Amino acid sequence: MISTTDDEPLHVLDLPQIHEKPSGTDLLKVLALLTLQPRAFGTSAKLPKGPAVQPAGVTRYLTSIISSPLSWLDTEELREAVWDNASARLSERSGRAAMPAMSRIFEIPGSSGESHTLTLHEPSLTADNLGMKTWVSSYLLARRLHSIFESPPELVETGTTPNVVSSKNESPLRALELGAGTGLVGLAFAAVAGKSATVHLTDLPEIVPNLAHNAALNVELLRGVGSTATTGILDWSVAPTLTPTAEDQFDVVLAADPLYSPSHPAWLVQTIGFWLRRKKHARVVVEMPLRGPYLPQVREFRERMTELGLSIVDEGEEVGYDDWEGADGDVLEVKCWWSIWGWSNTA
Ligand SMILES: C[S@@+](CC[C@H](N)C(=O)[O-])C[C@H]1O[C@@H](n2cnc3c(N)ncnc32)[C@H](O)[C@@H]1O
Repeated sequence: MISTTDDEPLHVLDLPQIHEKPSGTDLLKVLALLTLQPRAFGTSAKLPKGPAVQPAGVTRYLTSIISSPLSWLDTEELREAVWDNASARLSERSGRAAMPAMSRIFEIPGSSGESHTLTLHEPSLTADNLGMKTWVSSYLLARRLHSIFESPPELVETGTTPNVVSSKNESPLRALELGAGTGLVGLAFAAVAGKSATVHLTDLPEIVPNLAHNAALNVELLRGVGSTATTGILDWSVAPTLTPTAEDQFDVVLAADPLYSPSHPAWLVQTIGFWLRRKKHARVVVEMPLRGPYLPQVREFRERMTELGLSIVDEGEEVGYDDWEGADGDVLEVKCWWSIWGWSNTA
């Protein structure tokens, strides 16, 4: 495991060497450290400091990764991600100005004090599709998920810890993510839930290939905790042809930053109504930025959720920092609202 301090950059020989067959996650972490122009993204406005690794020998190190078959890694997706990142780091050192497609590393707290490292691929920033980028409220929500598993499940039955999503359910937890984008929230949920949980990550057709790619990138992690993630198309504007049965439905519905068009509140709430189990333990867990132009949609979402028969069992506001720079070069502060909903009456 590599660690850095602000003052002392690592030497290239401190990095995991190819002949040691490091895991895909370790290689991607190192390649993230080697980024020449890291982008800020996090829960604090602190900008990253100078190079984490001394430059001497880095080009040779990157070339050793690119020329390796990486045959010990589990999936072709993981190998491609490592090669792509190593090539991108080489391109940056060749003076290439454009930010290439990248794989990013996210550290997510688990429910027992551990942390999980997720890897997500984001296509080149020239792609203008919103689901190709990871948004700040999904990062905040992913970091908050552990808290909804932390109280003993039996308390759920008495209703005294309303934000706990697991229950005395005999069967594994089933979760659905709507508008998953790059998949951070759903994959973080799978990592934190563990124990045979299944998470189905969904989005529009043009977003799903990258989403599936990201699920494949994280198989090592999910296999380790015993959960699985699947991906598929789910367009909120299209009602299912057959009404979902209780078995088809999900214990948890997740969504981050889903509202940015006037039709979205109605479509999203209708979709939740189709897919959320009619059980006391069922939960909707959402987080969204409180951006001025979209506040009416947030209000409409709340009203429609209440009309559907759901009520808020826990909520709050928090501030995150997006990775888009503001006009003055500062990181952008974004206020976000998170909420956890359950059925008001499951009789
Ligand atoms: C702002 S992005 C948020 C992505 C991700 N949840 C995040 O926070 O990083 C909104 C997502 O909603 C998806 N979306 C928009 N309209 C949709 C619809 N009608 N059905 C399904 N997904 C939709 C977009 O494709 C996009 O991935």
